[in-house]
Amino acid sequence: MTKQIEHKVKAVVWRNDELVLLDQRLLPEKEQYVEIRSLEQAIEAISSMLVRGAPAIGVTAAYTTVLATQARYAENRSGWKGLIEADLEKLALARPTAVNLTWAIDRMRRCIERTSGDPRAIVLEEAKSIHAEDIAANVHMGSLGAQYLQQSSRVLTHCNAGALATGGYGTALGVVRAGFTAGKVASVYADETRPWLQGARLTAWELNKDGIPVTLIPDSAAAHLMKQKCFDWVIVGADRIAANGDVANKIGTYSLAVNARHHGVRFMVVAPTSTIDMTIPSGEQIPIEIRDASEVLTMAGVNLSPLGVSAVNPVFDVTPAELIDVIVTEKGIVERPQKGSLERLLNR
Ligand code: MRU
Repeated sequence: MTKQIEHKVKAVVWRNDELVLLDQRLLPEKEQYVEIRSLEQAIEAISSMLVRGAPAIGVTAAYTTVLATQARYAENRSGWKGLIEADLEKLALARPTAVNLTWAIDRMRRCIERTSGDPRAIVLEEAKSIHAEDIAANVHMGSLGAQYLQQSSRVLTHCNAGALATGGYGTALGVVRAGFTAGKVASVYADETRPWLQGARLTAWELNKDGIPVTLIPDSAAAHLMKQKCFDWVIVGADRIAANGDVANKIGTYSLAVNARHHGVRFMVVAPTSTIDMTIPSGEQIPIEIRDASEVLTMAGVNLSPLGVSAVNPVFDVTPAELIDVIVTEKGIVERPQKGSLERLLNR
């Protein structure tokens, strides 16, 4: 029997009737949890990336709906359902690209519609289910994805699609965790992931904590190292997958996919079905978040460029389905995704 690596990292915690989030802006320097007590605080936490990563944003939104329910029910026991709708609409705008945010809000909204009388316990139960299902999906995807790898694979990952980005365990890093335990993953490389450095700060931190050796590379070194035959697989997560299999993920993912195809490196996307948006026919319709230029122009408060220089900061890109070898979900694996394949997967 293979030894399971216990994941030690928890980005989102519900404790003593409070939402508690690990402040990812401070990692790896400081491990600090922040109590979130209101809708406004939660929206700020999501948009400032105190919490980030598509499934983690979804789980946070579910617990935020619990906080909003508690507040609105205390305010008006008969009219709270009318009041909470505006809260959910505001919450849905906190970040635009990860569809898990609206997916979780829609599921919580359906739960609210079903309630009669005191909603608080039922709504909390639903949020806890969303959280537990996300972890279970990740563990299952980890094992499915790892089975797909050949023995001793060398893996490159981008951004952070780990425990920090999810309810726990991780999507791409779930495959790395399961694969490392089973001897399927011999080495892990992580892109730094400019400008926010999710790879350098977060992926390296959480793999390190689990005792999985990781080698950091500058984003710009990936093509050169592919040419040197250093990787067998690129494994990434996703923020939104369109109906045709196009995948939005952290900026830089698209160029990795182009380079991977050119160099014969295989490309795997790992994401729960909550990341699939069947209302969007192709990646062209996925909204791409543009963040502040200061994330490119400064680092830890220090100017990287002369004052007066401008910068553009799109934080996601879209990888066309034809560059993807395999999408791993908790419902199963889709090889070479194309029109119709995700629909068939969801109807399984
Ligand atoms: O801007 P971020 O850090 O929220 O972006 C996160 C990513 O792009 C992840 O790869 C994606 O959310 C998948 S997380 C399992």
